[in-house]
This record gives sequence, structure tokens and C-alpha cells, in this order.
Amino acid sequence: MRKILIAGNWKMHKTSQEAVELINGLKRELADIQTVDILVCPPFTNLSEAADIIIDSNIALGAQNCHWEKEGAFTGEVSVPMLKSVRCTYVIAGHSERRKYFAESDEVVNKKIKAIKDAGLKPIFCLGETLEEREENKTFSVIETQLTGGLKDLKQDDLKDLIIAYEPVWAIGTGKTATPQQAEEVHSFIRKLLKEKFSSIVSDGLRILYGGSVKPDNTKDLINKEDIDGALVGGASLKVDSFSQIVKNSLG
Ligand code: PGA
Repeated sequence: MRKILIAGNWKMHKTSQEAVELINGLKRELADIQTVDILVCPPFTNLSEAADIIIDSNIALGAQNCHWEKEGAFTGEVSVPMLKSVRCTYVIAGHSERRKYFAESDEVVNKKIKAIKDAGLKPIFCLGETLEEREENKTFSVIETQLTGGLKDLKQDDLKDLIIAYEPVWAIGTGKTATPQQAEEVHSFIRKLLKEKFSSIVSDGLRILYGGSVKPDNTKDLINKEDIDGALVGGASLKVDSFSQIVKNSLG
């Protein structure tokens, strides 16, 4: 059985004070939840204080990005060992906003996934097609290219802690969610690819999250699909009420 994971990607939101309020509110609201994994991914500037607040709680901490080198002359970048030192256990790699605005290629995403894994953290590997690609019936080939590139040179054992997030770019921040059927179709395709490229141990065990305008009222229908194992939530993760409600609506 794959445990449901609900992850909040705060993107570039929240000052220090706002982050403390949000994380305290979530800790209070979600204290009793044990059957779902809960994760928050605040901006780098809030990680340390978030880690102090959620210590010994049921909420895990993740970062939204990383550099693939351990250290060096890379002004403005943050490495995985640095993230580990502030108690992050997950790191997002390959979010479509990074691919689009910061020109992250599959090769770069692959390096990041390897760095995250090598440090013993859990990569959340994002992939997804644009609207144009979907309309040109390229969804499956785009997903296959991103998956193959992002997981290049990795072996079955390397994928133990990996999580995939399918995020159709046209559904991110647009209020336009993929229907549960549309999402399931791609999730099961990803699982099939994982089986072909690795093994059924990988394809059966690996969690695949859906992301793109997840809200409290569409959570249940998405999570109920066989191959959807949770959600990566952007906008609705910025408020205690909506994120808590998404977590609660994902309970079996
Ligand atoms: P959204 O963002 O929930 O605001 O659509 C999802 C994401 O980009 O991870």
C-alpha cells in the first residue's frame, strides 16, 4: 500500500512572520492526522524556523529547489547538504516554473535528483506537459522524454525514496484542474513506464502525486483514483484552512 502524501509548495510566498503563522496553524489543525504524510515546502528563508516549529510533529519539511553541487562558487544557490542541515527531508526538482523561467533542462533535473538522493533526502521529481503539447497529442511523448531524462543512469535501488509529481502545466495556478480521468490516464502511463524501465517493484511502490489547482473540493475524486497517491498543492497550501481541508479530504 502506498501512503498518501499531501505536499504544500509555497513557491515565492510568505515573509518570516507569515510563515510562522501558517506553520503554527497547520501544526494545530493537523495534529491528529497519522494515516497521511504531510509535507510543507516553504522558501529557503523560512526553512530553519519552520523546522523548529514542526520538530516532533507529523509535518515534514522540504525545499523547493537545490543546486547539484555540494558547495562552491555558485552565487545565490543552495546545496542539498545545506538543506539537510536545516532538517529538510524532501526536495522538489524540475518544477515547471523552474524549467520555464530558469531554463532547467532534463539534464539539470537529473543532476539535482542524483544530488538529493546521494544526500539521503527524498526527491520530488516534477513533470508535465504544456497546453500546446496536450493539444498536439504530445502528452505521453513529453512525459516519457522528461521521465527518461530526469532518471538517466539511476538504478532500481536509487528510486527507493523518489516521488514523482505529475503537474500538467496548463493546470498550475489556472484554476483549471485536470479531471480525475485525465490525471489517472497519465499516472498509469507513468507507472507503466517505470515498470518497463525499472521493475514492478519500482512501479508498484513509487508514489505519484498530482499537482495543478488542487483544492479541498476536488481532492477526494483525484485521490480516489488508483494511481494517484497524493497531491502537490500550490495556491491552496498558503492558507491553514484550505491546506488542512485538503489533507482531511484525502483521508481514506
Ligand atoms: P497550484 O500549483 O496548486 O497553485 O496550481 C501547483 C504547483 O505548481 O505545484
